Amino acid sequence: MTELRCSNRACGRKLALHERALACPRCGELLEIGLVRVEGEPEQVKRLWLERKLSNDPRDRSGVWRFREFLPGGYELEETITLAEGNVPLIAGNKSAAWAGVRDLWFKHLGWNPTGCFKDLGMTVGITEAKHVGAKAVGCASTGNTAASLAAYAARAGMECRVYLPAGQVSHNKLAQALDFGARVVQIAGSFDDALDTLLRNSDGELYFLNSINPFRIEGQKTAMIEMLEQFGWRVPDYLVCPGGNLGNSSAFGKAFEELQQFGFIEKAPRMVIVQAAGANPLARMWRENGQVLRPVERPETVATAIRIGNPRSWKKALHALQFTNGMAIDVTDEEIGEAKEIIGRDGIGCEPASATTLAGIRKLVRAGQMEPDARIAAVLTGHALKDTDYIIKRFQKRTESGSQTERSSSAVEMHAH
Ligand code: F0G
Repeated sequence: MTELRCSNRACGRKLALHERALACPRCGELLEIGLVRVEGEPEQVKRLWLERKLSNDPRDRSGVWRFREFLPGGYELEETITLAEGNVPLIAGNKSAAWAGVRDLWFKHLGWNPTGCFKDLGMTVGITEAKHVGAKAVGCASTGNTAASLAAYAARAGMECRVYLPAGQVSHNKLAQALDFGARVVQIAGSFDDALDTLLRNSDGELYFLNSINPFRIEGQKTAMIEMLEQFGWRVPDYLVCPGGNLGNSSAFGKAFEELQQFGFIEKAPRMVIVQAAGANPLARMWRENGQVLRPVERPETVATAIRIGNPRSWKKALHALQFTNGMAIDVTDEEIGEAKEIIGRDGIGCEPASATTLAGIRKLVRAGQMEPDARIAAVLTGHALKDTDYIIKRFQKRTESGSQTERSSSAVEMHAH
């Protein structure tokens, strides 16, 4: 059983579960879904989740709705919009582990979702909720992936979709997806933060808003951690490492661990590490400086365009997740991201640049003596390698031009006369 409430625990205001609101009417803070009760004992529920893998119910085929004991409810089967999202493997990264100096490294590859990104996990719940409350049109601001995912789920639901993108800063692959799924694309001269402000200002009440400040999206994203722990046989890893942009995803993961612990499904949460790009690092900077209030980065800049965000809206929720899990926030440079991404490619896995912050972050922490080499580490890869092909081609073109090939990075394009 769930409820809609203010995320500020000192306020505690409650709302009707399906009320259309994005902020607390009393204090203005973000809302969250509260998990009030879970039907059944943990061992029983865990068994039920496994048994559902044999079922043909579309909700059981979804790696999100299979865990519906932890999700908001009240939806009819027909209004549940799913693309069989989730169901992604946990995969060992052996070369990646050696490169980072660790021995027990696992990637949870959320880029192997229907639109190539973790956003699908949140969108199946967000769009289902939008349909449930009778929305005809949905919208978001995006660095690209949210737009692609929203466009796909809106198309499935037969809804109009409007996406606000920072002009010239979104990878062609993601833009192409949004267009392919029939979204109306609004290009904003400015950053992601400007695009989000513009959308919030111009929202006319007709448009159902599906950025990660929407609490229903967070609920879907939570299930990535439930699925991962099930794959680990409920043996909790020592660390969970994930990239941080607008900080919705890290908030969702922290919430999953907190609820699983509260209801007796795990005894202890993994330590969460949130990794940002050095040019878009407001949370990492605040953490380093032991600050209490986030100072936005005015002009965020990084090759990892997915997380080129200076003013993350969910920072308080992410900070809570770090405090609850005894975690850390760090940052890595664009060059470190590039190197890590190449190694993940050599493991035959691949990912987009933002996801490679995780491996770069692990190496940095091990070198600094802040992460034990024999710890069990789970790193979340958030986007598919094909999400930003221009980045890959440009990086190898630059290398070929400068002739700076190393043994490790031996990829090259050779031209031969025929
Ligand atoms: N990784 C990828 C591939 C992303 O696309 C994003 C966010 C993140 C990590 C960070 O997640 O924002 O929840 O901290 N992309 C958003 C978008 C902003 O519009 O697609 P976060």
